[in-house]
Amino acid sequence: MTDLNTFSAVVAGTGAYLPEKILTNRELEKTLDTSDAWITERTGIRERRIAANEETSSSMAAEAGKQALQAGGVSPEKVDLIIVATSSPDVLFPSTACFVQNKLQAFNSAAYDISAVCSGFIFGLSIAEQYLKTGRYENILLIGSEVNSRIVDWSDRHTCILFGDGAGALLLKRVAQKKKSAAGILSTHIYSDGRLSDLIWVPGGIGKTGINKQDMVDKKYCIKMSGNATFKVAVKRMAEVIQEALEFNDISTDEVGILIPHQANERIIRVVAERLKFPMEKILMNIHKYGNTSAASIPIGIDEAKRNGRIQSGETSVLAAVGAGLTWGAAVIRW
Ligand code: COA
Repeated sequence: MTDLNTFSAVVAGTGAYLPEKILTNRELEKTLDTSDAWITERTGIRERRIAANEETSSSMAAEAGKQALQAGGVSPEKVDLIIVATSSPDVLFPSTACFVQNKLQAFNSAAYDISAVCSGFIFGLSIAEQYLKTGRYENILLIGSEVNSRIVDWSDRHTCILFGDGAGALLLKRVAQKKKSAAGILSTHIYSDGRLSDLIWVPGGIGKTGINKQDMVDKKYCIKMSGNATFKVAVKRMAEVIQEALEFNDISTDEVGILIPHQANERIIRVVAERLKFPMEKILMNIHKYGNTSAASIPIGIDEAKRNGRIQSGETSVLAAVGAGLTWGAAVIRW
């Protein structure tokens, strides 16, 4: 077995891209039977970003990726692997990551997508961690990018109010580990439960039934969700996996600099914080600005926290997400 204590996987650069167009709750009131007050109170969301016609998951991912490479001082040809976590890919195939590779001209990399929906970034981090800690690769660009606005049913007030578009990226780098407390990814923890696959899903089966008119009429190519059931399981799994990550690393909530949770609903985050006795001041919250950007939400949060000085060298951060699948996971990073 490879000794995983030889190398660390450090975050060398971060980046984010948010489309310019802002869609506020007030604007949604004009087309939906909803209100700014309901959305704000039940979700914490006030506005979200909507991709322009020419923008796609790959175009936003490339912008975020470019920033992460610049921040890390790594040129595109030095990238060994590009992983894109997305559930709103440009096309069914090839992967969005291959389009990103072309846009960045990172032609020495392998590139592929992973599908774990809102947990996609954590799942991607766990993959990158293995490649870097085993010494297989030196530079990995991990990106979460989504154009949720293209896969929501804009007439369904239960779902469309929740989602937004955007991308976030991390440049992860292999470095020789000098001591046990060195900076880097300390651990990742990922889980799935396929029994809950219809809690949140896009039921129109491309491979199952082929593309067909009736599915279009029934909006089966859009996100469907059982909101209440999802809420309950999201709270349970997120609290559990954060607890596991803390115990695995033998750290208390006091020792965590910032918790960056997937931004699905402010109330989910508040209940999780209460259960774990995690002070809200130590939790990154940007859902009011962006809504749920699925796989992009955690790297957007990391980039924001870095830029705002909420992450300092030597500090420890916890990341956590729950998503369709059901999938869930957490990661602990030391900076
Ligand atoms: N505007 C106004 N009213 C709305 C509404 C909207 N956008 N959406 C739903 N309602 C209504 C419902 O129709 C219902 O009315 P009724 O009792 O007359 O039928 C009422 O509000 C309560 O609906 P309910 O679904 O029980 O609300 P909720 O408090 O559970 O909030 C969600 C709904 C979707 C915000 C919440 O369940 C949620 O966030 N779930 C988790 C979503 C999630 O995390 N998804 C992604 C995971 S990665």
